[in-house]
Amino acid sequence: MNPADSASAMRAIGEILELHAQQTVLGQDLLLPVLHAIQDRLGYIPPDAVEGLAQRFNVSRAEVHGVITFYHYFRSAPPARCTVQICRAEACQSMGGDALLAHVRQALGCDLHAHSANGDFALEAVYCLGHCATAPAIMINDAVHARVTPVRFDKLVATQVANLATATDNTREAA
Ligand code: FES
Repeated sequence: MNPADSASAMRAIGEILELHAQQTVLGQDLLLPVLHAIQDRLGYIPPDAVEGLAQRFNVSRAEVHGVITFYHYFRSAPPARCTVQICRAEACQSMGGDALLAHVRQALGCDLHAHSANGDFALEAVYCLGHCATAPAIMINDAVHARVTPVRFDKLVATQVANLATATDNTREAA
């Protein structure tokens, strides 16, 4: 994280702590809600924040780190710009889910629970997306896609890549 991002993240964490402190005394039982609030705001829990949180909650750094790593929901690094979740449950597996996963790994160049080399895509497993009758299913960000074949997956990824490029251009123009 560059120094400007780090300072901004620490400011945001300070605001979250103050907000919670106004509501009640910051007891250790509030560590979890504060961690959720930080991740909701920043997208992850910066490792630099662990020491300050430990001091604020009067616990060890190991305890804060332990909570963050115990819950898989928490991230210690910024999220990828696009998350692909592939269903690994039974109905999807029986409809070509393994072959689809092999293709997805190759197409993104990363394994499950990892990011593509450019950091744009994260690949995660999920266990049923509620589209068992139209398996195999995947979710890209918040959108579920059913009856996904390797060819269809490639088209979906191409759309995402185009969207990410447009978003990057818009950000540059706004800067
Ligand atoms: S098993 Fe994959 S959507 Fe239900």
